[in-house]
Amino acid sequence: MSKTIIAKAHTNIALVKYWGKKDPQLMLPQNGSISLTLDHFYTETSVKFEPTLTHDQVTFNGQRLTAAKAQRIITFLDLIRQKSGETNRAIVETRNHVPTSAGLASSASGFAALAAAGSRAAGLELSRSELSRLARRGSGSATRSIFGGFVEWHAGHDDASSFAEPLQDPVDWDIQMIAVVLQASKKPVSSTVGMQRVVETSPYYPAWVDTANQDLGAMRQAIANKDLTQVGTLAETNAMRMHALNLSAKPAFNYFTADTLTAINAVQNLRAHGINCYYTLDAGPNVKIICASTDTAVITTALQQYFAADQLIIAKPGPGISITEA
Ligand code: DP6
Repeated sequence: MSKTIIAKAHTNIALVKYWGKKDPQLMLPQNGSISLTLDHFYTETSVKFEPTLTHDQVTFNGQRLTAAKAQRIITFLDLIRQKSGETNRAIVETRNHVPTSAGLASSASGFAALAAAGSRAAGLELSRSELSRLARRGSGSATRSIFGGFVEWHAGHDDASSFAEPLQDPVDWDIQMIAVVLQASKKPVSSTVGMQRVVETSPYYPAWVDTANQDLGAMRQAIANKDLTQVGTLAETNAMRMHALNLSAKPAFNYFTADTLTAINAVQNLRAHGINCYYTLDAGPNVKIICASTDTAVITTALQQYFAADQLIIAKPGPGISITEA
């Protein structure tokens, strides 16, 4: 008799980014990456394998998904069935605790939670590092969401060597992110499609891999030193180099909206006035501001010249995965 297993995973924001696969089948990245797991945004997923079902049933935020919409999840369940010998179809219920339509890195928390709940429901007892490898097969950024605090995903060279591990957890110093939640105004290029295009067409791609590898060593050091200025400076430069790849792809694309540039300018302006804050962006228009909690008031006041108070969400370092039985 299969049990219902519930897992909760928090999202993470990369400070040294993953932006390109060297093996799309195994989801091996071109370079390692480092992230911070956040407390405010998470996914809760329950999985139960059920002998009476003929198809996997996936519900997302209370809505039943069509087989076409659930395809990526079904493919991932197939991988769990293949690893565990489980033959039944599953009932999957997943809920994203992120502000409506914020588009904040939900595949990271989503596949981390699905890997944890699905593998346990199928009878597998995986270590955290094995869970990280499994989550990787769903979405690269999910590899890191198994762990809390600062996390490094080692690129590796095969399935066994490509996994994440904690760099620092708990985070006992003052660092946080303020998410500036912006409206997407155009049809997004998915991460998967965007990163593949830059690998194939950007002449700058080799330089990205070189500099990202250098950033990893420097970021590890900055985190160990609890040095906000260094963490922020490295993260900001790394993010803009990632976005420069998109501008140099053929055809070019980008994730910026006018509001994105407004938020970036506001951060630069605050910094020019002595406030220690930095920005990073992923595959969408939202800007994440890296700062100390002591500067929350001055930063949110400045940002509220352009954005509503409810577009500014304060997120602190968050925990790793938790798994319970219903
Ligand atoms: C910009 O993990 O969403 O957020 O592996 O194709 O599912 P797939 O991509 P995904 O890409 C995340 C890219 C990023 C940077 C990062 O999180 O490292």
